[in-house]
Amino acid sequence: MARTSRIPGFYKITVGERRALIGEVTGVDADVIEEALEGGGLRAETADKFVENVLGAYGLPFAVALNVRVNARDYVVPMVVEEPSVVAAASNAAKMVRGAGGFQAEADAPVMISQVQLVRPRDPAAAEEAILGAKAEILAMADRAAPGLVARGGGARGLEVRRFDETGMLVVHILVDCRDAMGANLVNAIAEGVAERLGALAEARVGLRILSNLSDRRCVRVRCRVSGEALSTGDMDASEVLDGIENASRFAECDPYRAATHNKGIMNGVDAVVIATGNDWRAVEAGAHAFAARSGKYGPLAVWRRDGDAIVGSIEMPLALGTVGGTLRVHPAAQLALRLLGTTDACELGTIAAAVGLASNLAAIRALATDGIQRGHMGLHARSVAVAAGARGELVEKVAALIVEARDITLEGARRAIAALELPAAVELPAAVELDGASQG
Ligand code: MEV
Repeated sequence: MARTSRIPGFYKITVGERRALIGEVTGVDADVIEEALEGGGLRAETADKFVENVLGAYGLPFAVALNVRVNARDYVVPMVVEEPSVVAAASNAAKMVRGAGGFQAEADAPVMISQVQLVRPRDPAAAEEAILGAKAEILAMADRAAPGLVARGGGARGLEVRRFDETGMLVVHILVDCRDAMGANLVNAIAEGVAERLGALAEARVGLRILSNLSDRRCVRVRCRVSGEALSTGDMDASEVLDGIENASRFAECDPYRAATHNKGIMNGVDAVVIATGNDWRAVEAGAHAFAARSGKYGPLAVWRRDGDAIVGSIEMPLALGTVGGTLRVHPAAQLALRLLGTTDACELGTIAAAVGLASNLAAIRALATDGIQRGHMGLHARSVAVAAGARGELVEKVAALIVEARDITLEGARRAIAALELPAAVELPAAVELDGASQG
């Protein structure tokens, strides 16, 4: 089967059937998928190698978003997330975007910032001049602190001096191309490797030596265009939906209280991909929110504007992600996630994560601007209740539809629905109830 992320009806089949199908479309053997994910994707003995005082591993759902197409390439996107409807919503929005050609994305070179704090330089202006004058020497010293990175084509790329004269501080940034690594250890090693020399040049005491998580030299930009027709709902016509989405964006642009929630919806998608691929989501979160506040006022990471009979969305955010080293060296499920994506390029991974973030944002604000989000959530909640009451296979959707229609989303209600459905002639199913999950296929 050709590599595709368009698999209609995927949500309806069993976990085993999904693994087999994903194996076919990604070329990763279904047995490999099963082995990597059994037992939550991480054994206690492996977890014990990660952190201290381990008792075991803590499982979360490992799912895949479908329909994602970025720069004309299809991706089956692994997402690790506990919140119902996030995966379905991203898949559903990605399907709408796909209809108009998919996401267009670009990523900066994978450059991180290494910070060295110099306290009370004797003469700040002279210190700045001395450090800038020694740039070539400092960059060569930085490269010597990370020989493996230099061998892989990365290394120190630039040096900047930032003066905070009012606080008696001078901060040096070494810009480091980390290639396919997230780079925290490399960048910290470089800060420590050059700090003493910088202190001598500045005639200052050396303070902190650490990376910056505001990785704004490593940004990703993604755009998409969706027709109003694809976005319209049963109750609202295309034009109203387009205006509703633009107004949702403008709300986030003028009000930080809304911007925080708008960005949370984006991070629903981004974090799920970041976690699935074994990356540091706290670093990504810290960078995203610092970037969102870069103007001095916290704002949205993604904005939407109406363009005739379509809506155009764009997102820009820092994404410091790696496809080598760290957790990836040992985590079987994270290794699987990259194999399913079919990439080892950290910049490409950034574009995929941001595209899923933009899709999640579109799904959220479209729902908010039309039906509200509770309807979809209730539909998915009803599916879980149906499964908990014993429904399996096709019965799950039928039971869920019945209890939503009856506004009785309880275990008892689901058990009654199962009993009724076992006598199909006696029961008439509501025709028009479409569950949130159902619309992604
Ligand atoms: C819930 O996880 C995310 C939303 O609140 C995002 C938003 O309001 O845009 C629905």
